[in-house]
Amino acid sequence: MADSPPSCYLSLAPMQGLTDAPMRDLLTRIGGFDECVSEFVRITHTVHSRATWLKYAPEIANSNRTPSGVPCTVQLLGSDEEKMAENALEAVRFGVRKIDLNFGCPAPTVNKHQGGAVLLKEPERIHRIVRTLRRALPDHIPLSGKMRLGFEDKTLALENAQAIAEGGACSLTVHARTKVEGYEPPAHWSWVKKIADAVSIPVTANGDVFTLRDYLDIKRESGCNSVMIGRGAVMCPDLARQIKQYENGEEVCEMPFAEILGWINLFVDLCLFQTANEKYAVARLKQWLGMMKKAYPEAQALFDAVRTVREAEAVQKIVTGFQVAAG
Ligand SMILES: Cc1cc2nc3c(=O)[nH]c(=O)nc-3n(C[C@H](O)[C@H](O)[C@H](O)COP(=O)(O)O)c2cc1C
Repeated sequence: MADSPPSCYLSLAPMQGLTDAPMRDLLTRIGGFDECVSEFVRITHTVHSRATWLKYAPEIANSNRTPSGVPCTVQLLGSDEEKMAENALEAVRFGVRKIDLNFGCPAPTVNKHQGGAVLLKEPERIHRIVRTLRRALPDHIPLSGKMRLGFEDKTLALENAQAIAEGGACSLTVHARTKVEGYEPPAHWSWVKKIADAVSIPVTANGDVFTLRDYLDIKRESGCNSVMIGRGAVMCPDLARQIKQYENGEEVCEMPFAEILGWINLFVDLCLFQTANEKYAVARLKQWLGMMKKAYPEAQALFDAVRTVREAEAVQKIVTGFQVAAG
């Protein structure tokens, strides 16, 4: 008998400059995620070296899993299907086990070079890219796609989704907005349902899940059991764990900020381990606190306390001081 699909599958969204390897490591340790996706690896005219693939996805050296064992998919962004296929094959040679294709990036520089969301104006081109990669890759390497609802409007949403499915992708994630809608709420979850009804591959719903309530709403409106969470997972690092607790019929325990403080110091360590660059570690922490303060008022006080501090050790001392004060 075939396995029935899981009633809840959670993936951590690819977010350039936000869900880098240390953040993926941290959030998958906290728990709840079934999969994570690397920041996009941009493909232009070169074939990337092993060092580059490892820089984007150090998980490659760990059987494509984060240290806590969650599989990591590597995302490619580009428009030259031959170069993308060459790179995808090389990535597989270095150990990548699942590839995702980005058809949603709104960045002007990326779109100017015919990558990301601009491709949503040309479903045939999207189809060609997916088909070329599917044909080039060994059968056992899953290939998925991630799209927005369109560039300027949603008129080609179904056509683009079908282009991805018929090109040979095994699954599709839909960020429920057009490119011009940027990150402006609301995300149009009912459009994910329209897309899921129009394609024969599993669809993952994505966009504006910041709370357990949002998760229940996106699931209901999209009809999808598979949900991808981006900014919400960074703002509320145990959101995926809360969702899994709920789905498992367990008591939902929100992580108190006092406990998050321990994870904050670990995050600084993970950043230092990844780059040995103190400035980077401190900047990433400030970026994270800046986002977390929307969910936790306590993060504001910590943000203010570290705002002008530049050394990682000094930052960690301050965090520890907050931990002691929180008892
Ligand atoms: C800072 C930032 C960087 C992003 N980088 C990527 C990326 O590399 N690849 C991609 O497919 N989507 C990228 N996205 C889009 C997210 O994966 C996701 O689709 C979007 O944030 C909506 O989900 P959310 O509301 O849960 O954050 C990015 C989003 C943000 C905010």
